[in-house]
Amino acid sequence: MPHATPRGLGRLAFGGDYNPEQWPEEVWREDVALMREAGVNLVSLGIFSWARIEPRRGEFDFGWLDRVIALLHEGGIRIDLATPTVVPPAWFYREHPEALPVSRDGTRWAFGSRGAICHSSPAYREAITRVTTALGERYGDHPALAMWHVHNEYGVPVLECYCDVSAAHFRRWLADRYGDLEALNAAWGTAFWGQVYGAWDEIQPPRLTPTVANPAQRLDFARFASDSALENFRHERDLLHGLSPGVPVTTNFMVSPTQCDTMDYWAWGREVDLVTNDHYLVGEEDRNHVNLSMAADLSRAVGEGRPWLLLEHSTSGVNWQRRGIAKRPGEMARNSLAHVARGSEGAMFFQWRASRAGAEKYHSAMLPHAGTDSRVWREVVRLGADIGRLAELRGSRTVADVAVVWDWQSWWAQKLEWRPSEELNARERAEAYYAALFDRHLTVDFVAPDAGGLERYPLVVVPALYLATEGAGRRLRSYVEGGGTLLVSYFSGIVDEHDAVHPGPHPGALREVLGLTVEEFQPLHAERAVRLTAPGGGPELAADTWAETVVLRGAEPVWEYADGPAAGGAAVTRHALGEGAAWYVSARIGRADLDAVLARAAADAGLPERDELPRDLELVRRSGERGDYLFAINHNDAEATLPLAGAAGSRSGAGSGEELLTGERVSGKLTVPAGGVRVVRLDG
Ligand code: GLA
Repeated sequence: MPHATPRGLGRLAFGGDYNPEQWPEEVWREDVALMREAGVNLVSLGIFSWARIEPRRGEFDFGWLDRVIALLHEGGIRIDLATPTVVPPAWFYREHPEALPVSRDGTRWAFGSRGAICHSSPAYREAITRVTTALGERYGDHPALAMWHVHNEYGVPVLECYCDVSAAHFRRWLADRYGDLEALNAAWGTAFWGQVYGAWDEIQPPRLTPTVANPAQRLDFARFASDSALENFRHERDLLHGLSPGVPVTTNFMVSPTQCDTMDYWAWGREVDLVTNDHYLVGEEDRNHVNLSMAADLSRAVGEGRPWLLLEHSTSGVNWQRRGIAKRPGEMARNSLAHVARGSEGAMFFQWRASRAGAEKYHSAMLPHAGTDSRVWREVVRLGADIGRLAELRGSRTVADVAVVWDWQSWWAQKLEWRPSEELNARERAEAYYAALFDRHLTVDFVAPDAGGLERYPLVVVPALYLATEGAGRRLRSYVEGGGTLLVSYFSGIVDEHDAVHPGPHPGALREVLGLTVEEFQPLHAERAVRLTAPGGGPELAADTWAETVVLRGAEPVWEYADGPAAGGAAVTRHALGEGAAWYVSARIGRADLDAVLARAAADAGLPERDELPRDLELVRRSGERGDYLFAINHNDAEATLPLAGAAGSRSGAGSGEELLTGERVSGKLTVPAGGVRVVRLDG
C-alpha cells in the first residue's frame, strides 16, 4: 500500500490522541459533540489501553471500546485504532519479569511508566500477537476504521536492551549479517586491543566496559536494536494486513534528530503504509519553527516524498520540556500549517482532552483544563475550520529546491566516543545548514546517501556524513560530473560502514569528487575562533571548534585560514569537475556566516536569490492535480508582502490565484498578516 492515506476522510485529517479510558463514560458524549464543533474527523484511539482491553491474560473486555467506537462513528469521526503494545499490563510483567529491558550498565528497568520493552523477548512477541489478533479480528472491517496505529513511538526514549535474551538475538543477527566469525572479526577490527572472537557465544552486546568499547560492535548493536523493534512492527503489521485488508498500517515516528536518536528511519519508512510523525516544538528555542520545518521535511523524505501525516504535536506547552512555554496566539496554526505545507495530510495533536492524572497532566491539549472558554479552544476551532478549507490539497506533493544528505547510521557512528573532538556534532551541522537554506527560502528534500535521482536537484548539501561508503562517494561524484553542484562540510566521507577509516588520506570516500585531501585534523581549543578570508573577494568569516590542513589536488581555494593552526591553507574550496562543481567547507563556520558560503554554491547551482523576501516568511509549494499551491507563513510580528509571480519557485507566470483560507482573489502581490498564514491556489 505505498500511497496509502487514512481511509474515508474526504478532507485533510484533524484531531488527536483520544484516551477515553481516562474518563467516565458520561464525558464521552460531550467529547464527541465538542469534536464535531472543532471539525475533528480523526482520532487515535486505544494507544495505552492494553490493561483495559485484556485485564487478565487471554480475557478480553471490548465492551467499553465497542461503545466509544460506536459513539465516534455516529458522530462521523473516524478512527486511527492503536495496538496498545507500547505498554503491556502489570500482570504481563508479573508473569514475565525477564521481559523488562536491561540498560547498558546492567540495570533492569521496572514497570510503572511506559515503553519498558525488550524487543527480543519471546513472551512479549506472544503477548503482542494475542492482543493484535484480537483487535484485528474485532475491528478489522469496522466502517469507522481509517487506519491502524501500531505501538507508539518505537525507540522513544529507549530501544536498546542488553539482557541475555537480547544477547542471543544479537548473535543471530550478526550471524545473518556476517556469515562467519572471520568476517565479523575483520569488520569489527578485533585485532585492535586483542578482541578476536573464536566462538559465537563469546560475543555479547556492548555492555559497560572499563574503557571505550569496540565502536563497530556498538554501531552494529544500534542497527540491531532498530532492526529488532522493526521485526516486531512488521509482525503486527502483517497480522493486521491479514485481518483487516485494505486498511493502512502506520506507526508514529519521531524523525526529528532533536527528539529521537535510536531509529534508522530510512529503513522504517519503507515498511509503513503511510508515514506518520510526531513533532514537539521546543518552546524555549529561538526560531523553533525552523526545526519544525526540518522535522516535516524529514517526515516527507522517509516516505520518499509521498504524502505523510502529522499524528501528534502540541496546542501549547509541553510538560516534559524544561519549561512548558505556552504557544503565542496564532503559533499553533502556523505550526500546523507549516507541517501541511511540507506534505502532511492534516494536523493531529497529543491529546484531545487534558488528563487529570498521570505524568502528562500539565501537557497542553485541544480541550485544555480551562475548558471551552479559552484561547486554546478558540484557536483549535478556528484551525479545524481552516484545515477544512484545504481539502483539495489532499494528495498534492511538496516541491523542493535542494537535496540534503542525511543518514541515521552515520550519525550514530559519529556520536561514539573518542572522535577527534568531542565538539564534532553532526546534528548541529545538519541543523545549521538547514537553517541557512531555510533563510534563503529554499525547500529541502532530505535524501539517503544511497539515493538515486540526485540529478533533479541543482544543489546537494552534505552537512555531516562521517560514514559514507565508496558507493555513496561514486554517486556524488557522478552527480557533479553530470552538472550538479555539491556542498560538503567537514568530517564527511571518513569511514566505511564498519567505522573503519577508508584507506589513504581523508576524506576517503569523497576526496576525488572534492579534489583535495585532508592532511591533518585541526580541532580548535575551546572558545578559540579562527578567521577565514577570501583572496578573490568575499566577506571575512569566523569559525570555531574545527579546522583542517587541506591539500589541494585539483580544487581551488575560495576562503583561506587567516590565522589558527591551519593559517595560510585553504578553508573553503571549489572543485570544477565535469559539468559541475564540488564545494568543501573544512571549518565550523557559525550559523550567521554560513550564508556567505551557501550563497556562492547556490549561485553556482543557478538557484534564485530571494533577498527581497523578509526573513522568517516561510514559503513552500505543494503541487497537485488542481494546480500549484503556495503556502506563505509569516513568523514575524509585522505584515509581509511578496510578489506572487515566481514565489517559492512557482511555475505560475500570472501571479494571481485564490487564497483558500479567506476565499479572496489575489493578484500581483500577496500580503500576509503578522503571524498569519496564506494558502494560494495559483492560477495555471
Ligand atoms: C509523545 C507520545 C504521546 C505523549 C506526547 C506528549 O509524542 O506519543 O503519548 O506522551 O509525546 O508528551
